Amino acid sequence: MSQGGTLLQAFQRTVSQLDGAYGTVVMDRRDPQRLIAARSGSPLVIGLGIGENFLASDQLALLSVTRRFIFLEEGDVAEITRREVNICNLQGEPVNREIHESSLEHDAADKGQFRHYMQKEVFEQPSAIINTLEGRIDNDSVRVDSIGHGASDILARAEHIQIIACGTSYNAGYVAKYWFESIAGISCDVEIASEFRYRNFVTRPNSLLITLSQSGETADTLAALRLAKERGFMAAMTVCNVAGSSLVRESDLAFMTRAGAEIGVASTKAFTTQLAALLMLVTAVGKIKGHVDRDQEAKIVQALHRLPNDIEQALVLDKQIELLAEDFADKHHALFLGRGEFYPIAMESALKLKEISYIHAEAYAAGELKHGPLALIDADMPVIVIAPNNELLEKLKSNIEEVRARGGQLYVFADKEAGFENTDGMSIIAMPHVDAVSAPIFYTIPMQLLSYHVALIKGTDVDQPRNLAKAVTVE
Ligand code: M6R
Repeated sequence: MSQGGTLLQAFQRTVSQLDGAYGTVVMDRRDPQRLIAARSGSPLVIGLGIGENFLASDQLALLSVTRRFIFLEEGDVAEITRREVNICNLQGEPVNREIHESSLEHDAADKGQFRHYMQKEVFEQPSAIINTLEGRIDNDSVRVDSIGHGASDILARAEHIQIIACGTSYNAGYVAKYWFESIAGISCDVEIASEFRYRNFVTRPNSLLITLSQSGETADTLAALRLAKERGFMAAMTVCNVAGSSLVRESDLAFMTRAGAEIGVASTKAFTTQLAALLMLVTAVGKIKGHVDRDQEAKIVQALHRLPNDIEQALVLDKQIELLAEDFADKHHALFLGRGEFYPIAMESALKLKEISYIHAEAYAAGELKHGPLALIDADMPVIVIAPNNELLEKLKSNIEEVRARGGQLYVFADKEAGFENTDGMSIIAMPHVDAVSAPIFYTIPMQLLSYHVALIKGTDVDQPRNLAKAVTVE
């Protein structure tokens, strides 16, 4: 400011010299009625009131005062007073940004009767799934037009799917890879965003990029999307939970999960709603490509209709799992096993346990055990197995025997019709029988409950685990 001009001009000169990610707000104490804000990389949202305006990094922080928001874009500089909001670019030229009306409830950030946000969010899953399915499936078919404007054309042209995501969203993408190939008959790769963005990848012809993200602001995923746009992807779609987020704004198509606000750092309902959305998307692609016939489509859609009720049944296991969790409290390591699309569910289960209970947990595709991890097995290493009654059950049973023969302590979450019995060294948690196609979503629930109860016993900070942030907006 000592070089002259207004605070806005001084700030514009300053941000054009800044490097890195920031969402920043400044005020001149001699003129406290005026705020100047800028973003690069990190999110910044303006809340519009009557005779008052607000700034925050997340709309959730402002829901008690307004539901009207402007999401600033990269390079935007905003000048805000009680009555006015003016936005310009770094060159000082005015820019127009849309006003979004948030559909989130004002009490979205309340814990209600629950002890933790995570617990609340686990129990909200039946309704979150109902919301995500609403208007997108009929009795026995998926409504392709509900995926978004131009979706049927984009999906028809796609010859390959590339999924990019981080953390829990990556695990959802990994399940979708199995579904895209087995149900829709289209090749699909899934990759962690931080790897994808820094390697020399080959773009396949007519490749559709799908980013998955709860927040829509994950820095690596966003950077991967921007890179993919430069590198010849046919189109970019996002499956995302936050309307108006950067991924939604910058993608050609946005298929919203409607999980509602997820506040616990550990992703739970965001994951299962991502899977429900992805299953609809996979079915739509399969139908468009003639790989899913009416009969198969009806079966998948009926399984989706039953899913909220199935999840209610899984939540009934809460008390039983609470007791089981006691066995884990003094353990330092745990191994999760699954096969097929249950391998990424094992990965997600291990991620949940490690992030909130700080127990080192790993997931392995059960068939891979004998190639190394079998050496870890002893009485101090609980082995958690996800065992639905599917075509891989017999293979999984032999893997379970490999662990048993080495004195491992097994906890098998098994379909009650899968023929398991409690024996020495093996506890069976009998799960209701559900449709094979939606079973990965269903089996996620007891795993979330297990990590929640282990964390409670260990006394860790369930909603805000150490060293972690809800939205990872920096690299
Ligand atoms: O918002 P995103 O889904 O893009 O976040 C990606 C990861 O940071 C996130 O899924 C993280 O792994 C979970 N919070 C873990 O529960």
